[in-house]
Parts: sequence; structure tokens; C-alpha cells
Amino acid sequence: MSLQIPHHDINLEPSMSKPPDFNRQSVLMHTERGFKSEVISIVPLTTQEKLFHIRICDPCERENFTFLPGQFVMLELPGCGEVPISISSSTSNKEFIALCVRKVGKVTGMLHRLKQGAIVGIRGPFGTHFPMEKMVGYNILLIAGGLGIVPLRSPIYWTKEHRSDYKDITVMYGAKEPGQILFDYQFEEWRKIYGLKMLTIVQEAGENWNGRVGLITELFKEVTIDPDNTFAIVCGPPVMFKFVCGHLSNLGLPRQRMFVSLERRMHCGMGKCCRCNVGSTFTCLDGPVFDYWTVMNLKEAI
Ligand SMILES: Cc1cc2nc3c(=O)[nH]c(=O)nc-3n(C[C@H](O)[C@H](O)[C@H](O)COP(=O)(O)OP(=O)(O)OC[C@H]3O[C@@H](n4cnc5c(N)ncnc54)[C@H](O)[C@@H]3O)c2cc1C
Ligand code: FES
Repeated sequence: MSLQIPHHDINLEPSMSKPPDFNRQSVLMHTERGFKSEVISIVPLTTQEKLFHIRICDPCERENFTFLPGQFVMLELPGCGEVPISISSSTSNKEFIALCVRKVGKVTGMLHRLKQGAIVGIRGPFGTHFPMEKMVGYNILLIAGGLGIVPLRSPIYWTKEHRSDYKDITVMYGAKEPGQILFDYQFEEWRKIYGLKMLTIVQEAGENWNGRVGLITELFKEVTIDPDNTFAIVCGPPVMFKFVCGHLSNLGLPRQRMFVSLERRMHCGMGKCCRCNVGSTFTCLDGPVFDYWTVMNLKEAI
């Protein structure tokens, strides 16, 4: 009996859905390419923050661009520089990505001078994401301080679009003063999401403020947390992590079910320049999203 060797055409080999992660190649996929993009609209939010709606110019590249809640892009202003900015829009929005930029220095200052129609570059998406897939079947606490509401908009849209996957959603948002509250024009829309409770607080009340005054941790008095069935995402200044995550920990929520986004100065976004390291951890590749247990074990992370 002759041995039949089956004909094998390597060109017909199904492509690997997930390549092996040698040297984090899968993480770096698409990230060395920049996308020429157009600023299609600019919404001034406060004296310091503007929301940019940015559309990738090439229709094919636009269609293929995907990201997950919590990831960021490098936004490049040609001839000026580039800065890491969190994506603040729905993952299902194929028309544009929303980037909210606070004016703090050279590049962000120049970005604030842009007009509609300006051409910019984006690279990415980069970094780890909030693990929405792990949170299926749980309550979700979304806690933001100040600019921290920017990366939280993406998981808010996500929970709206996958509403039946999650139990109760609670958004807690604290700002320094009423004039610094971002996206207040969307709060009514968010409150209409079934089972979503939204609480806001400011540290210093102005004349026309009738809402809550105090630190964000005050809001815990108004929510009941079931530690066995809850995940938390906390975004804001690092000092807030200690208070908020510490409080959640005291309530019995495991630190592995709390996620924070760590910000570090970044340059390349892809593990090459060593600007973003915390010890041997690259914030651009291994983060910016970490569970709080990992953060506690990273020396000088916060
Ligand atoms: C993962 C990630 C996501 C981010 N998302 C956003 C976002 O959605 N919106 C937004 O407005 N900003 C975001 N930032 C911060 C933003 O990247 C910086 O504000 C920006 O790089 C400053 O650039 P610049 O040239 O304008 O300022 P520079 O002229 O370089 O510096 C001006 C001042 O800003 C401080 N600064 C610079 N970079 C950072 C940084 N990474 N974190 C804290 N302080 C910094 C400097 O110490 C200095 O005091 C994010 C940063 C990271 C790492
Ligand atoms: S930003 Fe260059 S290594 Fe992380």
C-alpha cells in the first residue's frame, strides 16, 4: 500500500487569529504606522479643555481602525511634536475618534490653536484596556476625578451598547469646581441608560451650584456596594487612587477587581524609548490600565 501524502498548499493556510506574542509583536501591530487625520470639529469644554473629533482621512484605514476602552493614541501635530491622549469615544464609532485635550504645555497649547479642517497624525491604538469582557455579569463602578472622566467615556458608551451584559452601573464624578466639570451636557443622556446611577460632586461650590460639595469619597455614602459582584474602574490624579481604592478595599472589594489608568510621560508609546518605565514595567505596553493589586506591587507607581 503506497503512503498518500496529502497535498498541502501553504498559501491556503488559514491566517492565525492571534499571533504568538514574541517580543510583544501582537501588541505592536499597527502601532508603527501613523494615520493622516483631519480635525472635523472642535468643542470648547472649559477654559483649559477642548474636545477634538478626529477622522482618519483614508476610508479603508478608518474602517480598519479599532480600539478598546482605556487605550490611547499618540496625537501628532506635524512640526511640533506628539502627545499621548486617551480615546474618549465609542468603540463602535467608525466616523471619528474623540480626544479631549487639556492645555498644559507646548504641544497641547498648539493643539488648542488648531481650527476645524487641520491635518494631524495619530498612531495607535496603544496600551492595555479596561477588561470589559471580564466584567460581564457584574455591577460596574466608574469613578472619575477631574480629567479622569475622559478615558471613562469609552466604557460608559460600551456599557450602553452592551447593556444586557452588566448589572448596575454607577458613575461617580468629582471635579474641583463647577466650571471644571466636563461633559455635563451628556449627563442627562447617560442617566437615561437603564440601571445607570450618576453622582457628581465638587470640592469648591460656586454661586450657582446647588449640588453636592466635598471630596469624591463622600459619594460612597449614597451607594451600596456589593463587593462580591462588583468591578471598579478608577481614573484621575494618582492621589485619588489611594483614597478611592483604599475605601473600596475596606468595603471588601478585591484589588484585582479595581482597575486604574496610570499616566507617565511617554515618547514612543511602543517600548523603545524607556521614558515611561516604573521599574522594569513599561507603562505604554503593560499599561496604562493596571489592576490595583499590580499597582500596589509596582514600586513608586503612585
Ligand atoms: C496614557 C496617557 C493618556 C493621556 N490622556 C490624556 C487625555 O486624554 N487628555 C489630556 O489632556 N492629557 C492626557 N494625557 C497627558 C498628556 O499626554 C500630557 O498633558 C501632554 O503630553 C503634555 O504635552 P505638552 O507638550 O503640552 O506639555 P509639556 O510642554 O511637555 O509639559 C507641560 C507640563 O505638563 C506636564 N506633563 C507632560 N506630560 C505629562 C503627563 N503624561 N502626565 C502628567 N503631566 C504631564 C509636564 O510635567 C509639565 O509640567 C495622557 C497621558 C498619558 C500617558
Ligand atoms: S513611551 Fe517609550 S518606552 Fe514607553
